[in-house]
Amino acid sequence: MGKTEEILKEIDEYLMTNLYPTHRIVVREARDIYVYDVDGNTYLDFMTVVTTALLGHNPPGLTDAITETAKRLIAGNGYNWYTEELLNAAKAVLSLFPDKNMYNKVHFKLSGSEGGIELALKIAKRFTKNTYVMYLMGGYHGRTYLTSSYHGMRRKEYGPLPPGTLIAPFPYPYRCPFGDMTPEECGKAAVETIEYYINYVAIKDVCCLITEPIQGVGGIVVPPKDFFERLKKVLDTYGILLVFDEVQTGMGRTGTTWAFEQFNVRPDIVVAAKGMTGGLPASAW
Ligand SMILES: Cc1ncc(COP(=O)(O)O)c(C=O)c1O
Repeated sequence: MGKTEEILKEIDEYLMTNLYPTHRIVVREARDIYVYDVDGNTYLDFMTVVTTALLGHNPPGLTDAITETAKRLIAGNGYNWYTEELLNAAKAVLSLFPDKNMYNKVHFKLSGSEGGIELALKIAKRFTKNTYVMYLMGGYHGRTYLTSSYHGMRRKEYGPLPPGTLIAPFPYPYRCPFGDMTPEECGKAAVETIEYYINYVAIKDVCCLITEPIQGVGGIVVPPKDFFERLKKVLDTYGILLVFDEVQTGMGRTGTTWAFEQFNVRPDIVVAAKGMTGGLPASAW
């Protein structure tokens, strides 16, 4: 029996394995685009650990920085005291944004869903003093208790939606929820519906609308080019924040650092995670 089989046998015995099927290999080491298993096999990694290892596995700059810092300080997350590393990380994240004046503060957390999305929604509530959160059909925002309930395929298991959550249509150009229309007409209809929900379902009590700029888990769905521009105009009229979940699209995955740069729109809050840290658990907004 190879080492892989031996370990997998015990993994099946001792570990609550993932809900989704994973690759039944046992990795010992990873470098650049390759992963190496415990039996000496080499694999070309097309997964990049769910898009986290965007610089390749274990780039020396990252591993050196982790090793050097861990020797001095591990528990330094900004709760009880600050560190220079936190400040440097904030400056580095801000330097990735095109508008230096618009995005001027960063908050770090541990994962896309927990720290990024959930906290962005809490901040939107406190900032606007409104309560409803709106998100778009087919969107995916993670696997915490709240964000799992947003996930269309999982709603049967993790629903119902929390009170004060509204689902609005996303203008899927090829399967427009409003029928046979051009992508632009579909986008316009979606914005009109969103405005209708704001006025007549939430009675203007909406703190934010959260969306991915390009839906990932929903099927790599790119909305019509002018959709977000139209949407932002309407949201601004009501003082509703536009929150972009760039956990999957950010860090250069669509050709620009952030996908929002391709839609002529500036969201009020941008949530980043995954590729931002090359595999370490961290998120920022
Ligand atoms: C668009 C999007 N938002 C949020 C998340 C959740 O991020 P995390 O797994 O870091 O909690 C994911 C994860 O796949 C994602 O793709």
